[in-house]
Order: sequence, then structure tokens, then C-alpha cells
Amino acid sequence: MKAIQYKDYGSSDVIELVEVPVPSIQNKNDVLIEVKAAGINPIDIKIRKGFMKAARPVEMPFIPGGEASGIVVAVGDGVSTFKVGDEVLALTKTSAYAAYVTADENSVLLKPQGLTFEEAASVFVNIGTAQSVLFTAGKLEKGQRVLIQGGAGAVGGAMVQMAKAAGAYVIATASGQGVELAKSFGADEVIDYKLQKVTSLVKDIDLVADNAGGETQQNLFPVLKPGGKLLSIVIPPSQALAEQYKVTAAFVASNITSETLKNGIELLKTGKLKPVVSRVFALKEAAAAQDFLTAGGVNGKVILTVNED
Ligand SMILES: NC(=O)c1ccc[n+]([C@@H]2O[C@H](COP(=O)([O-])OP(=O)(O)OC[C@H]3O[C@@H](n4cnc5c(N)ncnc54)[C@H](OP(=O)(O)O)[C@@H]3O)[C@@H](O)[C@H]2O)c1
Repeated sequence: MKAIQYKDYGSSDVIELVEVPVPSIQNKNDVLIEVKAAGINPIDIKIRKGFMKAARPVEMPFIPGGEASGIVVAVGDGVSTFKVGDEVLALTKTSAYAAYVTADENSVLLKPQGLTFEEAASVFVNIGTAQSVLFTAGKLEKGQRVLIQGGAGAVGGAMVQMAKAAGAYVIATASGQGVELAKSFGADEVIDYKLQKVTSLVKDIDLVADNAGGETQQNLFPVLKPGGKLLSIVIPPSQALAEQYKVTAAFVASNITSETLKNGIELLKTGKLKPVVSRVFALKEAAAAQDFLTAGGVNGKVILTVNED
């Protein structure tokens, strides 16, 4: 089968299209999926650049890709939820940039009707991460004020929509065309972070969700009310600043399971959450697709299409 692999760590020049054997079902709870589309996540690029060697060591050559959509073509002996022919989306952790991939049935969901395969490959990480930050760790409640840093990004866009659906007052940061996109997600206020200063426009926030990291994270502390929370999915926040502003601050690693995806999938089915695909590339264009995401200003998810006739 065709697959994309990293032959080594490095720039996108290490990305190559190769022929490898179709993976076989190794565990009784695995399903084998003929991949139609694969989502590109920033972690795929961080792994390639060698930034994740301690936290997520991989062996080269390595087939990247944490999420996919497609059709079930085989099931392990212990699989009870899925059958051959089901259209699904899956959290695969690795190896989704390929014509076929295996996944544990607990990390697989039936594709909601009305979603294209491209859209379905875009939602698993986004809504699972948004759920982990806003509700599991953030305990966001109706009427609370939430600031979403990067509210037009892949995860941030899901956060804006899910926070709105929960009845929160949502302020998002974005730039360029992302400002209009974040507004279309229902944000009550959108700040263009390249033109305006968040600290002079925002205050009394219950929860800050940081999807951008970097030095700008420290500017998010003053907008919180005492007792508020700053949660980042990018870098661990400063505990000294948390103490100074009398808030709690933590890094959140997403916990993505079919259980934690329930809320997001329900919102998708009822049309309260829209998947946003920024751009679709063919599998063989994986290097260009990753470079496109790295360049920024993407607004939504970047997708690879696979097994197209
Ligand atoms: N901890 C976890 O479990 C977990 C899970 C998923 C993702 N992540 C991480 O979360 C991050 C976001 O992922 P993603 O898929 O949503 O990426 P993405 O689609 O590239 O979104 C990042 C967003 O951040 C915005 N941004 C960049 N610099 C900013 C700044 N200084 N101020 C405000 N916004 C800024 C970007 O806006 P512009 O394009 O307009 O600059 C973009 O909308 C990545 O680092 C990823 O690795 C972590």
C-alpha cells in the first residue's frame, strides 16, 4: 500500500511516499480501516522536527498521522461494535498517512451522517482536546467568561463552538481572516491579536484556553479574575505568575476516548458544531501540506485524501 513516511528527523524534505505492506490486525479489539482521509496535526510536525523525542519517542522510518476516517475492511475476533463496511473515524495515534491503518475499537466512532470523509478526519483531536480543556479540566459553566487564544485554529475553533453551545460568554483571539471565522463560530468578541492588545481589552475571565503557547502566554494571566484558570495545550504555564495573579494554571494533555467525544459528536449531529477544513491535499503532497500548516494563518484543519480512485 501507499504510505507517507519520515525517513529521518528534519525538514519536510525527509517526507517520502513509499510502498509498504498493509498492516495486519495484531490485537483482538483492532479494526482495519481503508483510509479515505487523514487529519494533519501540529504534533506530526513536532515529531518530524525531533521536538518530541522525550515525550513521544518514535523509530525511524516512521509513518505519521494520529487521526483518520475511512471504511472498516476487517475486524479482530474481539470487536463487537463495528463490522466490515462501516464508515468510521478513528484516533490512530500513528500511521494514518497511509492507505490502511489499524485502530482499537474504543478509539473508533461511526461517521456521523452528513459529514464528508474529509470533515470526519478533522474532528477527533479537535473536539476531544476541546472537551478535555473546557469541561474536564476547566469545569466551564453556563454564563462564565472564557478567553480562547487561537480561536480560529483547528482546536480553538472547536473550543469556541463548544463553549458557546455550553452557554459561556466567549472571547476569542485570531488574526487576518481568522477574525471573521471565529465570529462565524459564534464568539461574542474577537480580538485580532496582531493589531490589538488583549490585556487592555479583556478582564474578569473565568477560564483562559491557550492554544498558541509561546511568549504571549504570560500576557494572558492579567485578564483572569482571582480564582480563575489558565489552561494550555501547548506549554506548561508559569507557576510564579499563577501565584502572583492568584489563579491556577496547568498544561492539559487531551484525553480522547469515545466517552470524552460524546458531547462534541452530539453537537456535530445537531449542527451546533461545524467541522472546518481549511485545505485538502493528496497523500503524495504530505510535505506541502505540513509546510502549509507550519506557515500559519491556516484557519481550520489541513487534511490529506487517501485511496482516491
Ligand atoms: N496537549 C494536547 O493534548 C494537544 C492536543 C492538540 C493540539 N495540541 C497543540 O495545540 C496547538 C494548537 O493545535 P491546532 O491543531 O489547533 O493548531 P492550529 O490549527 O495551527 O492553531 C493554532 C492557532 O494559534 C493561533 N496563534 C498563533 N500564535 C498566536 C498568538 N501569538 N496569539 C494568538 N493566537 C495565536 C493561530 O492563529 P494564526 O494562524 O492567525 O496565527 C492558529 O489559529 C499545537 O501546538 C498542538 O501541537 C496539544
